Amino acid sequence: MTRPIQIDRKELIIAIDGPSGVGKSTVSKRIAERLGLTYVDTGAMYRAVALAVAGAKVDIENSAALEEFCNSMLVEYTSGSISVNATDYTDSIRTEEASKLASVTSSKEPVRRALVMYQRSLAVQGGVVMEGRDIGTVVLPRIHHKFFLTASHEVRAERRRAEHDSKGGTEPVGSSVGAKDISENMKERDRLDSTRAESPLARAVDALEIDTAELDIDGVVGVILADIEQKVEKSRIK
Ligand code: DC
Repeated sequence: MTRPIQIDRKELIIAIDGPSGVGKSTVSKRIAERLGLTYVDTGAMYRAVALAVAGAKVDIENSAALEEFCNSMLVEYTSGSISVNATDYTDSIRTEEASKLASVTSSKEPVRRALVMYQRSLAVQGGVVMEGRDIGTVVLPRIHHKFFLTASHEVRAERRRAEHDSKGGTEPVGSSVGAKDISENMKERDRLDSTRAESPLARAVDALEIDTAELDIDGVVGVILADIEQKVEKSRIK
């Protein structure tokens, strides 16, 4: 059991990055709960914007049209809900279709520019745990608490499959998403995430990398809390 950290929660801004299926959401929510911080899921924003762009029939290969949409869109994230232009997407962002759309839409510069700006505005007051792909590298490069979670492709695909099965699947009736599909889709999205020109998935040089394959959730949370506590104490001694 980690000792409670004696710190003004407003002073804490924590970035948790890594590929999909690595346990970021569960870990980030747990850290937020333990420290009394606000959990910010940036993936939910990319998913909702992807659905909004598709819904508005904006051609994402038309950069002028995409730019116009992104410059005027209103994104609202509060823990647990996400809306774009006053349409609530909370219940539709977890489908395989939304994952596919988000993977492509999130590679577009106007989308990233708008969402990075919005994410910074949420972090500026402090007291947040922000999870994503580029939080430590691009969104909040100057913060002190950065973590990068990893695990092999096989481990992550198996976790995603178990998650999918435990939810009874999130796909519409009639679609079939088997273990092989999940693994292949994940591979493709990993490739897109890591090779895109705009803010590719990458570990910040000053982020602590944690291999989650051998640890359970409590184990990962413990490593993160211990590191935060150590850094906070060190900064007090200085
Ligand atoms: O974490 P997730 O699976 O909900 O993310 C959805 C998509 O958005 C995924 O393709 C990665 C992308 N993403 C991103 O490019 N940058 C972020 N900060 C968060 C997510």
